[in-house]
This record gives sequence, C-alpha cells and structure tokens, in this order.
Amino acid sequence: MSSLHSDDQSKPCSMRNRTDILHGFQVAFFAMSRLPTFPWTFLDREIESDKSSELISDILKQTCLHPLCKKHPPTVKYRRLFLTELIKKHEAAESEPLDELYDALGDVLGTDEGTEECYKSYLLPCGDAISLLENVAVISEGTTGLVTWDAALYLAEWALDNQQLFNSRTVLELGSGMGLTGIAVCRTCGPSRYVFSDSHPSVLQRLRDNVQLNGLASQTSPSVCVEDLDWATATEEQLREIGANTVIATDVVYDPDIIGCLVKLLSKILRCSSPESPPDVFVTSTIRNPDTYNCFKHQLENMGIHYDVLTGPVSHVFPYNRVSALEMIKLYI
Ligand SMILES: C[S@@+](CC[C@H](N)C(=O)[O-])C[C@H]1O[C@@H](n2cnc3c(N)ncnc32)[C@H](O)[C@@H]1O
Repeated sequence: MSSLHSDDQSKPCSMRNRTDILHGFQVAFFAMSRLPTFPWTFLDREIESDKSSELISDILKQTCLHPLCKKHPPTVKYRRLFLTELIKKHEAAESEPLDELYDALGDVLGTDEGTEECYKSYLLPCGDAISLLENVAVISEGTTGLVTWDAALYLAEWALDNQQLFNSRTVLELGSGMGLTGIAVCRTCGPSRYVFSDSHPSVLQRLRDNVQLNGLASQTSPSVCVEDLDWATATEEQLREIGANTVIATDVVYDPDIIGCLVKLLSKILRCSSPESPPDVFVTSTIRNPDTYNCFKHQLENMGIHYDVLTGPVSHVFPYNRVSALEMIKLYI
C-alpha cells in the first residue's frame, strides 16, 4: 500500500496520483482526522490543472456517499464541516457545477447534530474497515478510554509489520480502550486467542460492543474475550490462567498516580510465566510529559525490568500524528 500521509503530519508525502489522493481523503474522513490534515494541497494542485469536477465527485463518493458512511457515519457536524470545505475548494477552482455536493450538504444540514458518540472507521490494507463506536470528547465519564489514541494506531501498524509476534499466540492487551489495536491484530495477525482488558465499566461495555460490531464475538478463531482486569488488583493466578505469550499496552503511561500499579502488574506478568518462555511484552506511549514517562522507566528499572526501545512501524496505514513523540519499548527481566 502506498504511503498516505496527510499534509501537515508527515512530509515527504508520496501522493503520486488521483488514486492516492482519493484514498488519503477516505482514510482521513472515516477516522474523523482533523480537517487540516487532509491532503488538500494535493487536491488543489489536481483541480487547478483539470477543471472537470471528476476528482471532487469521486471524493464525495468515497466519503459522504460511500455505503460505509450510511452504516457507520462520522458525526453530522464533522460531515458538515468537511462538505463545507470541499465546496469551498470546488468553488475556488471554478470547476464544472456539481449538484451532488450541495445535495449532500443539504442532507447533512437536515440532520440533528446532537450526539456524544460517533463511529470512526479505520481502513485496513485489504480494504476492510474496523468501525468503532467512540465518544466525541477525548475525556468523558471520567475516563480517557472512550476514544482511540495515536499509540493504539501506531502499535496496530507495527503489528501488521511484525505478524509473527502475534500469530498462533495468546495475546493479552492491558487497558484496551475502544479495542482498535486488538481488532486489527485479530483481523490481520492470526493470534490463537486474544484477551482484551480494561477496568472502567463504560469502557468495558463499549469495548464489548465494538468487539461484537466487528464480528469477533461470534467467530471461533481467534477465540476472543473481554476481561475486567484492573492493574491494581489483577492476581498472578488470573495472569497464569490467561497464559499470554504476547502482552501489549498502548497509551497507558499518562497518569503518575497509576504508574506504580501498572509497573507492579508488568513485573507480575514477566515473573509468573515460565522462565523458559517469558512473554513478549510491548508498551507503546505518546510522550506528552517526559517527567511522567521517565518516572515510568525509573520504576521499571527499580523493579528489575529492563527495556529496549524498538523501531516503529514501517508501513503507513492509519492516520495519526507521526510528528508527535511516540515510543515503543519491549520489556524483559
Ligand atoms: C489513554 S487510554 C488508552 C486506550 C487504548 N489503549 C488506546 O491507546 O486507544 C488508557 C486506558 O487505560 C485504562 N486504565 C486506566 N487505569 C487502569 C487500571 N488501573 N486498570 C485497567 N485499565 C486501566 C483506561 O480505562 C483506558 O481505557
């Protein structure tokens, strides 16, 4: 798959042709990426040299008029803002009239905007979508777990490049949130068993719904479950019962108050398995506050846990801010 970086997130961008541009718009639209990160400059360039409305019409078909948008639509407000921007581009280019653009905006304007929830869809390289019901606000109901964070997309992408670390294994995910990484791993890496986990009641409920929405609850391979696994209270017995060969966690290092129990749990995970076959443990973080992240690393060291910093994903599949500080570490004792 070609790289589909958005304008202000990663340069250079290899949006070589109309197919790349169309795909770039589709990927960003369904993930509800920020509008400035869409490949607008590539669109500008194309429509400057070709006054037909074909490309804008195709963008419309691949976004607001796509069947996925009927089934799992981004918010009404988001679609309104997106269409308004697309109309501005179309009008500025003085291209052929395109009634369907205004019809699409008319439909959106006639729809009630008020909702706290939205569908975000993340497109896999095979073209399938992972659709998740998420909250619009990044923090709601006292938790950060009701949205998908960049670190989850980063690790999902890395998993696509490193499928052997998940294939035919039992995978345990800590603090799964909305479930993006796990669903991507289940769809593409062939684990034998996948254990999603979290501890917040609303997150657990939504996680179960998202697992079901993506057809994982009803299939036998991989076998999938969602567990209430609080880092502060999870027991060695629980962990032994799960028997994970691979353990992952994304964006779990953000609150100094919970780092202690997270590190203790990671120590239990590494120590309660058989020394001959310890699990591979990977933690991916967005480093927002270096003090918090360093505190996590110091506490790991104090518990006798070593880590290697790994190279991130090579593939560019999902839209996220590649400029922000993301780091993945592999833990061992
Ligand atoms: C920033 S969110 C990350 C969610 C997801 N991993 C992602 O990257 O999109 C942190 C997650 O950790 C979970 N969490 C926080 N404290 C926890 C604890 N003590 N036990 C289990 N999960 C916890 C939250 O409920 C939330 O889902």
